[in-house]
Amino acid sequence: MPNLFASAHPLVAHKLTRLRDKNTDPKRFRELVREIAALLAYEATADLLTVARRVETPLAGITGTELKEKIGLVPILRAGLGMVEGFWELMPTAEVWHIGLYRDEQTLKPVEYYNKLPVEPTVSVCLILDPMLATGGSAVATTDVLKRWGVKKIKFVWLIGAPDGIKNMQTHHPDVPIFLAAVDDHLNERAYIVPGLGDAGDRQFGTG
Ligand code: PRP
Ligand code: URA
Repeated sequence: MPNLFASAHPLVAHKLTRLRDKNTDPKRFRELVREIAALLAYEATADLLTVARRVETPLAGITGTELKEKIGLVPILRAGLGMVEGFWELMPTAEVWHIGLYRDEQTLKPVEYYNKLPVEPTVSVCLILDPMLATGGSAVATTDVLKRWGVKKIKFVWLIGAPDGIKNMQTHHPDVPIFLAAVDDHLNERAYIVPGLGDAGDRQFGTG
């Protein structure tokens, strides 16, 4: 599928298996979310633009590169929060802009409750972070918000996606590349991802 990148890295698969395990406690769950996020960050940033930068080694001068684009990390509250540190370890100067959305469990529609984006975009590329892509309602709504903000380049990073959510994103935002650790089989009658990992927010914050 165009614009869909599912990781084939064995480290990602290993850590994701631990993450799915219902016996993994919240502390280890949070560590794994951070670690998998860092591995996905590496994959999702492979096409960032660079400019030349001259430096002197102890032996000689060399023209290397540095990142050109100003990066914004956009975690979707709550569950996306746990992915920020993994990205920040690799790009510590990235700005973090939080979007608060939850899925109404009756209607399955996203409800926005937090957005403090300034009027003008302050970054040139946004990486939206959320562990779970289920129906895709939250993802489409967040991408709408960032496009309205005026960000030119948007990428979306999830840990696990369901086919329905991927289809929803590709229908509404075919221009947004999507990165995943895994694509799972289906949604159950409550729109939870199967096999999935359960409720990503509750498992991170110990609220389940
Ligand atoms: C989860 C998840 C996504 C959303 C996915 O958040 O982190 O944001 O559900 O579902 P969708 O694709 O059907 O929209 P949740 O609403 O449980 O909020 P939380 O992060 O505060 O727990
Ligand atoms: N949100 C989650 O945390 N898990 C799912 O499987 C679906 C939505």
